Amino acid sequence: MHEPDELSNAIEAAAAAIARSGHAVALVGAGLSAESGIPTFRGGEGIWTKLGEPTFDGWELFNQDPAAWWQEAISFKQEFAEFNRAIDDATPNAGHRAMADLEAMGRLAHIITQNIDNLHQRAGSRHITEIHGNRYLVRCMSCGARDRLESVRLDRLPPLCPECGGFLKNDTVMFGEPIPEDALRECYRQTALCDLFLVVGTSAVVYPAAEFPVIACRRGVPLIEINPEETPLSGLASVVIRATAGQSLPAIVERLVPGRGRR
Ligand code: OAD
Repeated sequence: MHEPDELSNAIEAAAAAIARSGHAVALVGAGLSAESGIPTFRGGEGIWTKLGEPTFDGWELFNQDPAAWWQEAISFKQEFAEFNRAIDDATPNAGHRAMADLEAMGRLAHIITQNIDNLHQRAGSRHITEIHGNRYLVRCMSCGARDRLESVRLDRLPPLCPECGGFLKNDTVMFGEPIPEDALRECYRQTALCDLFLVVGTSAVVYPAAEFPVIACRRGVPLIEINPEETPLSGLASVVIRATAGQSLPAIVERLVPGRGRR
């Protein structure tokens, strides 16, 4: 963490870079939702640290037998019950709200989030690409159409797409599963358009997400990192804020529009 003056200088530098930018894009990770009570994946309290990373065979199992995969998903694996409950109980925190404020102020064009928790939408952000999916949606494995999970009838498994008859799967991207094409295309498009990259609460070790800021940086786009810990991107960042997202994002909004960062 910074000394107080250092932190205030970093916040000031971040606000100035955002004010200068014309198309700022953010890459977000689990750290943003940590202050909403959702555990991160890595680090001391991370769920992969505690339970081990899921195997890569989930995607293969779905393809081999979608009905059996759904049966297993419905029976709600006990080991992840706590994590799922934390997501269902969570509400957006000051960091999510500040990102929605930045968008409303015309200062943040797009969010690429690795989070599946729907908290950006609930905070009021509109321009979002969920590269790892959304826990509350299903997606057709044939045509890519998405629908709300709660609207899907599970009396016959696997559920089928009303548009094309393809197999539906929870939208959350599993280990080994390709990133949905539409999401990936939009991530690369935003990476090509941006003139500033905010990297918020991600360990930046999962690809392709971690690659977008690097691609942008190669064409001279400045990076701002918000993370209490060092990451592989820290060395590339022109501004590093070693504080939590819930502390620093509202402080940035406050610098841009005094009085607005306090909600
Ligand atoms: P990680 O758990 O790998 O990293 C979380 C990051 O958030 C770490 O760098 C922490 O230092 C930082 N952090 C913790 N608390 C914070 C706070 N309050 N404010 C800001 N930063 C904070 O999570 P991700 O990088 O999101 O994918 O992980 C990427 C992907 O790995 C996830 O989307 C998930 C996982 O496998 C899938 O499941 C497909």
